[in-house]
Amino acid sequence: MKLFKKVMAAGLASTMVLSMAACGGGSTETTAAPETTVAATEAPVETTAAEETTASEAAETTAEEVAEATGDFDASNVTVGISIYKFDDNFMTLYRTELERYLTEDLGFKKENITIQDGKGDQAEQSNQIDNFITSGVDVLILNLVQASSAPQITDKCNAAGIPVVYINREPDAEEEKRWESEGIKATYVGCDARQSGTFQGEEILATSNKGDINGDGKVSYIMIQGDPENVDAQYRTEFSVKALTDAGVEVEELFMQRGDWDQAKGQQLTQDALTLHGEDIEVVFCNNDAMALGALQAIEAAGRKVNEDIYLVGVDALTEAVQNVLDGKMTGTVFNDHIAQAKSAADIAVQFLQGEDVAAVNMVDYTKVTTENAQEVLDALK
Ligand code: BGC
Repeated sequence: MKLFKKVMAAGLASTMVLSMAACGGGSTETTAAPETTVAATEAPVETTAAEETTASEAAETTAEEVAEATGDFDASNVTVGISIYKFDDNFMTLYRTELERYLTEDLGFKKENITIQDGKGDQAEQSNQIDNFITSGVDVLILNLVQASSAPQITDKCNAAGIPVVYINREPDAEEEKRWESEGIKATYVGCDARQSGTFQGEEILATSNKGDINGDGKVSYIMIQGDPENVDAQYRTEFSVKALTDAGVEVEELFMQRGDWDQAKGQQLTQDALTLHGEDIEVVFCNNDAMALGALQAIEAAGRKVNEDIYLVGVDALTEAVQNVLDGKMTGTVFNDHIAQAKSAADIAVQFLQGEDVAAVNMVDYTKVTTENAQEVLDALK
């Protein structure tokens, strides 16, 4: 499968990336942390023979990729400003680490020319950081906005300063994206179509022996643990997970829906609340991401319920812990939110802007379902 080849090719980076996530990644430092790159280069030292094969494959792929992605482009003096909506987010920590690794190791950017800032979940703070990036005259910006609705103002400022912007992960609305095209503004979005991840979650429930109707009462009774509802990923995953069921002719009943803001502790608390309120009636727990699903699992286990026996649980992202849970039968499924392909695409597109090429307004990467059938393969690839 092409996807997993690609992931394997980046295997060493993934090892480092995933171990960073395990540490929490909640740094508040504003510049690219030197340890990050040290960890990346040190990781291969302890490889086994099997991993060494992956290492040399990675080296070959990387050399080809550099040539393909950069051509004659010399990245050594190019400055990049990156702002992440908040460092304390499991998925964005994986993404950020891979983005920095790819820019430096594969594209030849210098670490000291890359500044990565923590938006700390505060749009006013992030907007100040972006103003400072503009004043300091960075060559290109890669932005994961706190609020995607701030894109028009931020885009205008960058455009006035002649700085191209690659938005990632939190998609500005369609009207704004059209404006970039119609006005010839150097701005673009790289992400995934969250409708696909929602649909995949619903399909994972449909693939169970009773299509989610554990108690056989003719309807699937579910709870929904949502991410930040301002974020289109949360909106679409909520809508399309359930739509996959209703489109298949399955009757549904929503017992509980609350925002957990992508956060594990909130996912745990909300699932605990829902289980207290609705107990055995809950057949399916939909979580908009894996961090919240990991929290939901803690609440499910504390309540003495058993996933895949008397309750189903699905998430999105394919954090290693969640994929391991799928393998162990503690989660019904998850969906791989390919941070490796997204980081590569964002960086490659930044280079295209810098080379004066035209860039499409929207650039989407595919999601992949993760179920018991392929969980081991995904885990091996991410390790
Ligand atoms: C991921 C979440 C993450 C969010 C941040 C989503 O695409 O699935 O895990 O918290 O992005 O914006």
